[in-house]
Amino acid sequence: MSLSSILVLHGPNLNLLGTREPEIYGSATLSDHVNTVKAEASSHGIAVADLQSASESELVSAIHQAKGTHDAIIINAGALTHYSWSLHDALRSFPGKVIEVHLSNPGAREDFRHVSVLAPVVDGSISGFGGMGYALAVQALLRLS
Ligand code: DQA
Repeated sequence: MSLSSILVLHGPNLNLLGTREPEIYGSATLSDHVNTVKAEASSHGIAVADLQSASESELVSAIHQAKGTHDAIIINAGALTHYSWSLHDALRSFPGKVIEVHLSNPGAREDFRHVSVLAPVVDGSISGFGGMGYALAVQALLRLS
């Protein structure tokens, strides 16, 4: 895979990062995390586009449009991770690499967070490392490309 463009997707409530449950998610904002991806990617000449939405439909459309436009997707789908079969199906149709990122470690939290319906259709998942997870995701994509 050649890696020249990455799409970063964020789901519901992640626009509140920085003030939302900082004891769980830390104090960095969503744009801090997107900037982490941009910083890692730009040193390798990789372009980054991003979208945050609480709308499953907008995220599904963005995944459809990513086909032929972006080589890889980094996605933190928030709570949609745990029940969105439409995101599962959309990601299944995306031909490039997909990395799932979570700031927290959902496996160590409430039962409903233990299942990711996206996990079967992503190349790998990075959870529990806070904002470092976004840098690790770019590193993983570089190693896979
Ligand atoms: C999250 C974990 C999800 O369970 C939660 O609904 C989120 C954030 C994370 O980054 O740790 O919104 O995806």
